[in-house]
Amino acid sequence: MADPIEAMCEAGLSALDEVRSSESLAAWRVTHLGRHSPLMNFLGDLGSLPAAERPAAGRAANQAKHALEAALSVKEEALRLQELERALASEKLDLTLPGRPPQRGRLHPSSQVLRRILAIWAEMGFQVYRSREVESDEYNFQLLNFPPHHPARDMQDTFYTTRPGVILRTHTSPGQVRVMRERCPEPIRVVLPGMCFRYEQVTARAEAQFYQVEGLAVGVGITLANLKATLADFARCMFGASVRVRFRADYFPFTEPSAEMDIECFICGGSGCPVCKRSGWLEILGAGMVHPTVLSNGGYDPRRYSGFAFGMGPERIAMLRHGITDIRAFWANDPRFLEQF
Ligand code: FA5
Repeated sequence: MADPIEAMCEAGLSALDEVRSSESLAAWRVTHLGRHSPLMNFLGDLGSLPAAERPAAGRAANQAKHALEAALSVKEEALRLQELERALASEKLDLTLPGRPPQRGRLHPSSQVLRRILAIWAEMGFQVYRSREVESDEYNFQLLNFPPHHPARDMQDTFYTTRPGVILRTHTSPGQVRVMRERCPEPIRVVLPGMCFRYEQVTARAEAQFYQVEGLAVGVGITLANLKATLADFARCMFGASVRVRFRADYFPFTEPSAEMDIECFICGGSGCPVCKRSGWLEILGAGMVHPTVLSNGGYDPRRYSGFAFGMGPERIAMLRHGITDIRAFWANDPRFLEQF
């Protein structure tokens, strides 16, 4: 009875000699030690042998099984080492390869335009003044001559918080009163950049959050001529020395008189195109002489002091400079847009 077992064992061991890969080792395991292998079938059929032969046959079969299992694990280890050596030889690490350059970030287009705007104002002696984004109704509206329930409030739809009288600022103008109260009676030349928020229908031209840059000059003898000359200078630095500007009368409760400044369309040179809506002009900011009530709210006597103020939108300026047709691209965070700047 030992002979067929020995034959099975030898067949298994010699087949194992031929095994060269882990795939064929798996197949070998099924053939020689699997549930339907000759050896396992033999062990399963032990009960059909005469009782006298059973112990010896069982012992021999188990020894054969252990011999095959031991040979299997030796082979497994040998194959693992061979495959490791093969991998090391073929997939050599080349330490001389240059590293992958890290992707460099860049400034957001709004920040780029914002920095350009602030640099121009800095050259004209305007300091940056940071004011708060969460404002009180008093500073955002009342001190700027928007009384409660006055229809002028409809110009700027507002985000209210659950705290009464606390809102997200709709423009940077509340900073005017804050800086005046801090600096009075010194003369003032500041720009106030920052985020503003309006509860508006989001469209290709209007976002619910956007930057503004406010400007404020207060002193003795400041006139509308100073306002016009300073803003025209800014436009020439920003858009080119030959750019023409025009002022149109407008209305803001906190300036008197008030104006909008347009620049000649630099796409069509003033002849009319889709960007300037065929008018030849592009609106870039609102401005005016600081209203006497606002000067007094800031602590300045309007009989002695005067001032001018202006407010512009950097995203709208970036749209003009780069031909961007949809303001929503600024906050959509799409790298295909951002990588162009
Ligand atoms: C104001 O906010 C005034 N505070 C500006 C001002 C300051 C006038 C000082 C006089 C003196 P206006 O609502 O027009 O005005 O906004 C000014 C600029 O902010 C606009 O020209 C535009 O560029 C930008 N802006 C306003 N609303 C939005 C919006 N929803 N999305 C993007 N930009 C906007």
